[in-house]
Amino acid sequence: MSTAEATFHVFRGEAPDSENGSENGSGENLGEFQEYKVPVEEGMVVLDAMHYIQGTDSPDLAVRWNCKAAKCGSCSAEINGKPRLLCKQRMDDLPLDEPIVVSPIKAFPLIKDLVTDVSWNYKMNAAIPPFEPKEEDTDKWEVFEDDVVRPQEFRKCIECFLCQDVCHVLRNHDRKDEFAGPRFMVRLASLDMHPMDARNDRVKYIKEEAGIGLCNITKCCTEVCPEDIKITDNAIIPMKERVVDEFYDPVMKLLRGMGLAHKK
Ligand code: SF4
Ligand code: SF4
Ligand code: FES
Repeated sequence: MSTAEATFHVFRGEAPDSENGSENGSGENLGEFQEYKVPVEEGMVVLDAMHYIQGTDSPDLAVRWNCKAAKCGSCSAEINGKPRLLCKQRMDDLPLDEPIVVSPIKAFPLIKDLVTDVSWNYKMNAAIPPFEPKEEDTDKWEVFEDDVVRPQEFRKCIECFLCQDVCHVLRNHDRKDEFAGPRFMVRLASLDMHPMDARNDRVKYIKEEAGIGLCNITKCCTEVCPEDIKITDNAIIPMKERVVDEFYDPVMKLLRGMGLAHKK
């Protein structure tokens, strides 16, 4: 039974060349906010409200979603200016006495309404040096539980790119040419911390290609992660330490040269 009514201000707009997305990131100036009234039901999430709008006033409202269970990462948007999953944001956690503003994520080019072009992330992902197993027989691999648990946290990532959206290096300074962003620091950490990974060029990649030096550990990415991955504390800071060890610590350099220090 309907208990209340919410007012939504939903961004409506389209990039001129919507196949490639707008070049201006957020799509500001490409559209405007439209007001909708939506009856609020018990247990409702913001994605339900977008579906209500599609089913009533605006069947052409573009919104990307798949699972409605906070697991596919496709319904990322901004709710009252905060990066959120539309399917995870409960209506009863929002103030209903003022309009709820729903807009597309700002760090990536607009395609239409709430849908953005996040394909840059897939190109970045493909460029990452892959896992390379140690040469010994996999049947004989012996690993400590702690070494498995550590990178396991990073495997929870659902690629929602909310961390990419909130990171000021990508969002405000648009340094996609020099910084991979927190999502890929998580992936790089999961590979580099794997106890059976044999690659020795990944730390160089993290420094020079992924641009970890541009992260100033503001922790905004950690705050928005819907999987509660401790992006900064558990991925980025240890990776920064590995970069320092490998490139700037003369003692570690000496020990490595003598075969007495290993990255894992
Ligand atoms: S901690 Fe680093 S990666 Fe995360 S939002 Fe801040 S600058 Fe970006
Ligand atoms: S690390 Fe968290 S916020 Fe970033 S893409 Fe993965 S699940 Fe989303
Ligand atoms: S619809 Fe899959 S995460 Fe929201």
